[in-house]
Amino acid sequence: MKTANNWKDYSVISTGDGYKLERWGGIILLRPDPQVIWPEQTPLSSYEGLSAKYLRSSTGGGGWEYYKKMPDEWTISYKELKFCIKPMGFKHTGLFPEQAVNWDIMSELIQNANRPIKVLNLFAYTGGATVACLKAGASVCHVDAAKNMVERAGENIRLSGLQDAPVRYIIDDCKKFVQREIRRGNRYDAILMDPPSYGRGPNGEMWKIESELYSLVELCAQVLTDNPLFFLINSYTTGLQPQVLKNILTLNLKNYAGKTFAYEVGLPTEDGIVLPCGASGIFVSESVSLPKSLKENEL
Ligand SMILES: C[S@@+](CC[C@H](N)C(=O)[O-])C[C@H]1O[C@@H](n2cnc3c(N)ncnc32)[C@H](O)[C@@H]1O
Repeated sequence: MKTANNWKDYSVISTGDGYKLERWGGIILLRPDPQVIWPEQTPLSSYEGLSAKYLRSSTGGGGWEYYKKMPDEWTISYKELKFCIKPMGFKHTGLFPEQAVNWDIMSELIQNANRPIKVLNLFAYTGGATVACLKAGASVCHVDAAKNMVERAGENIRLSGLQDAPVRYIIDDCKKFVQREIRRGNRYDAILMDPPSYGRGPNGEMWKIESELYSLVELCAQVLTDNPLFFLINSYTTGLQPQVLKNILTLNLKNYAGKTFAYEVGLPTEDGIVLPCGASGIFVSESVSLPKSLKENEL
């Protein structure tokens, strides 16, 4: 398990009864979390300072209930990176803070590579990983089906002072885009993807992780350069074990010299437990020195 424990502007205060209580800068939110099958240790809904709670409706979906006047959106920082936080539909805030674990690993790999690195970020959402890779000195091709998410990635890049960094924004279905890149002969030194369990491309293309993930990785292997730096898959799909991601990478990247690692990703909580948030698998070239947190996986 790797936990995102370098945050100052974010923390999980407590969890229980299907909810997590989180501090995003000065704003406290209460959101559902399917992993939380234990009872609350302290009353979460009446927590002093709580600004808003996301309520699930019995007919599916849900909405935010506000208890305090609060801004529509605000900014939080992770190290030198800055992100706009905005409560949206589907209980989203526009950031997955546990991904800081992977931002740190990718940043270190890009810096250790000592060569120009071209990154392909698929299902790239509001660009947490895009900002981290740009800050580390890579160029990034950011692909997502949702125009408003790609626009928010642009905003996060500007907030982080990276407006002049080399980024290409693509609003497209990930599979179609990779197929086009194969035909065009475009190649990438590093790939990362954070696919949802279910999703839709801009023209309604269906994405279902169990049936599509292997073949997408197989396609992606065709747009890698001869010495790829890394290939990272993250998944928050419940039940998808880290070893599954490691196996998919090992089977598809066997022609490349490197090592594959897999780990659970989680968030530490202020009351002393760890909230599991999914799994990651990463292939790393043998030509780069390993970040400290991956060295621990070798033991
Ligand atoms: C929840 S996000 C992933 C989180 C993100 N990588 C991060 O850490 O910030 C999933 C994204 O996949 C996108 N998506 C879903 N199906 C897609 C498809 N077929 N092609 C491209 N993007 C898709 C959605 O628009 C959404 O932004």
